Amino acid sequence: IICRTKRELKDALHKLRVQQPDRKVGFVPTMGFLHEGHASLIRQSVQECDTTVLSIFVNPLQFGPNEDFDRYPRDEQRDLALAQASGADFVFMPSVEEMYPSKMLTRVTVDVVTDRLCGASRPGHFDGVGAVVSKLFHIVQPQRAYFGMKDAQQVAVIQRMTMDLDFPIEIVPCPIVREPDGLALSSRNVYLSAEERTQAVVLSQSLAEAAALGGQVGITVSELQEQVRRKIGQSPIADIDYVELLAFPNLTPLDPNQSLADTEGELLLALAVKFGRTRLIDNRILRFA
Ligand code: PAJ
Repeated sequence: IICRTKRELKDALHKLRVQQPDRKVGFVPTMGFLHEGHASLIRQSVQECDTTVLSIFVNPLQFGPNEDFDRYPRDEQRDLALAQASGADFVFMPSVEEMYPSKMLTRVTVDVVTDRLCGASRPGHFDGVGAVVSKLFHIVQPQRAYFGMKDAQQVAVIQRMTMDLDFPIEIVPCPIVREPDGLALSSRNVYLSAEERTQAVVLSQSLAEAAALGGQVGITVSELQEQVRRKIGQSPIADIDYVELLAFPNLTPLDPNQSLADTEGELLLALAVKFGRTRLIDNRILRFA
């Protein structure tokens, strides 16, 4: 069932909930141009919930002035086919006017976890994500919401926002889906030229190398980051935005001179690299202790 207005979706979900009050609703928010990564989230929701709502909305609030909002890829018919094949029950596809009938004067800012990585590189980005996800959570009122670890910082931000604002929703992080050669699936991969696409495998390769390197005793946090930078630097067209190893999920920095063997708990090795005009992100959760 396709809903283009909040009213249509809310009414339809309300009817279902009246029929079966304990019905579990799963929610998968996306910006469309769907791929297997999105499909994996939909399938997990379908498995765990009674009703799955997919949203497709390219949210202008989370794009910076020089980013790709206007050229972000869109294909409604293909998206609907993939949504149906993956088992989604409802697709919410609002217009910008439907989501933002008047200028937003309210801000949803999550501090600290947005200090680094994309929070630092893309000012205002996570305020835009927080705003749209809060609105969608209120419209859909799901019991569970599914987010990909492809955007690990987004998972950390949404988890924190959900806790701080008492959304009665369980945030479910889902594994990164990759191409056979290791490149993480992304709607933005269509921007890559053949040459850029070939070179982009260096991202997942550098993460895999780092995971193996960590086994060596004595290597420090900054040495690991340096090693990853060197590996990415082997691609002549890769332009590094950031390579950082942080504590997960609070995303606080580690002592650069600390030995990996002395670190505790889960760490996030995250990178953002530009190939031509296209900025790609990838990450891996590591644990050395
Ligand atoms: P979008 O980039 O379309 O991603 C929607 C969801 O799919 C996110 O949770 C993202 O992490 C997940 N995803 C993307 N690529 C993936 C992959 N290769 N493997 C697993 N999951 C993947 O993230 C957004 O949209 C927006 O910021 C949104 C949350 C919808 C708010 O506008």
